[in-house]
Amino acid sequence: MSIIKVGSLFAGIGGIDLGFKKAGFKIEWANEIDTKSCTTYKKNLNHNIICDDIKNINPESLSSIDVLTGGFPCQAFSIAGNKQGFHDERGAIFFELIRVVRQINPRVVFLENVKNLKSHNEGKTLQYIIQTLEQLDYLVTYNVLNTCEYSDLPQNRERVYIVAFKQQADFMRFQFPQKEVKRKSIRSILENEVADLFYYENSKIYPLLKEAMNNKETCYQWRRHYVRENKNNLCPTLTANMGTGGHNVPLILDDRGIRKLTPRECARLQGFPDSFEFPQYANSVLYKQLGNSVSIPVIAKIAKNILLALKQ
Ligand SMILES: C[S@@+](CC[C@H](N)C(=O)[O-])C[C@H]1O[C@@H](n2cnc3c(N)ncnc32)[C@H](O)[C@@H]1O
Repeated sequence: MSIIKVGSLFAGIGGIDLGFKKAGFKIEWANEIDTKSCTTYKKNLNHNIICDDIKNINPESLSSIDVLTGGFPCQAFSIAGNKQGFHDERGAIFFELIRVVRQINPRVVFLENVKNLKSHNEGKTLQYIIQTLEQLDYLVTYNVLNTCEYSDLPQNRERVYIVAFKQQADFMRFQFPQKEVKRKSIRSILENEVADLFYYENSKIYPLLKEAMNNKETCYQWRRHYVRENKNNLCPTLTANMGTGGHNVPLILDDRGIRKLTPRECARLQGFPDSFEFPQYANSVLYKQLGNSVSIPVIAKIAKNILLALKQ
């Protein structure tokens, strides 16, 4: 088996796909409902992306694959969401994913979700996901990895990674990656030339920001009435809600003043290369796409270990 092929569900702008590609997999096809995310995806990856609701996907029409990936919508499980889990329409999308798994029967299923999936509904939600895969004859393992511990990126981002194998030998050979020793500084990911619109000098909350923000090595967050400093010199988790509300994007102090991170800096904090191109969308759209995405180096490390497990 030389080329190992991947099909990607809930592909977003392609973070998981880029991680698998980096590890040596070939992406065969992808599916994503959001047209703007599909446009960003197409600018950077050149295989077939079906821009449609997963409910309309007929797996029989798709070319065969070895690995199926899915960073399925996390809102139904995240702390910020309404905690309805599978009763939520977005949680029910999990069953669409399972429909595709059942029909395609891939050798590996790789899923990514928010850390809160683990404790959601006293752990029953995750157990249910695992049991559903086990009923389809998969052997399932999962782990919570934090981006700042498993890559050199200075972002605090804990995510659950679920890996399911059809064959016992593959499952036995697989292990989650080791922790990374080195870490980049926040300053090292900053852009040199940043437009005025990212700065806060003329904002109503500027006096409060100025009083609280004095460390150039870390990120801050505006929390309704106060500023929260990250004491570990990390950027807080980049989330999709950066795209809504003016102050949800992490803040920094640079040599010129106080500003929010730019979309390019958020992309760097997720491990996207600077060659990754964005369409001419409003910054709010780009922030949302990047918050929804993944830390590419963490995905690449797990994917590499999946490849090792499959190739022996
Ligand atoms: C957490 S994001 C995954 C992002 C992706 N891992 C990346 O790196 O960009 C979940 C994605 O699922 C997509 N989605 C939600 N409902 C969907 C549906 N019914 N069919 C297909 N995609 C859907 C969303 O538009 C979103 O891009």
